[in-house]
Amino acid sequence: MSAAELERAVTDVLIDESSLQARIRELGAEISSDYEGRDLLLIGVLKGAVFFMSDLMRHLTIPCEIDFMAISSYGDSTDSSGIVRILKDLDINIEGRDVLVVEDIIDSGLTLSYLMRNLEAREPASLEICALLTKPDRREIEVPVRYVGFEIPNRFVIGYGLDFAERYRNLPYVGVLDPGLIQTEA
Ligand code: IMP
Ligand code: MG
Repeated sequence: MSAAELERAVTDVLIDESSLQARIRELGAEISSDYEGRDLLLIGVLKGAVFFMSDLMRHLTIPCEIDFMAISSYGDSTDSSGIVRILKDLDINIEGRDVLVVEDIIDSGLTLSYLMRNLEAREPASLEICALLTKPDRREIEVPVRYVGFEIPNRFVIGYGLDFAERYRNLPYVGVLDPGLIQTEA
């Protein structure tokens, strides 16, 4: 795929690279101050959260570790099926740990709501969510999100980790996917 083809999938740049990085720096400072004196375990939800998580971590000034989970709820479509499956579980035991789940985007809330119930059962000392993006208009189930990067309108977005059919994660900004592509490819 050429750079021009990549760019053509985007109708609007919603959040540019410098705005993303500035907000992530703020979140890092806020989290560092909230968890001062404690060790934090970041749990990244694969694959979309990887980009956000690695940038966020670089702004944390507290001792922290990372682990990952992979869950599937979407397939290649742009709508949540409500069916959640664990594809990869954590490597470590989170009992008694301060845990922060890092997500790229909360849409219906179904994926995170399932994940939170699953993690809660493992008895962490604390369990919070940090999501780069949230689409409040799409919420079907309430999830308590402690840290949010940006609230965005109800548009399908790509870039900075977010994919459409596994593509476009490498864009350095968050852009709106050309709706024409959803009809033809999904
Ligand atoms: P939920 O279960 O509907 O909240 O969906 C959450 C997951 O759906 C996210 O972790 C993303 O992987 C995916 N998702 C939701 N909205 C978008 C979007 O606008 N672009 C790309 N992926 C999305
Ligand atoms: Mg995804």
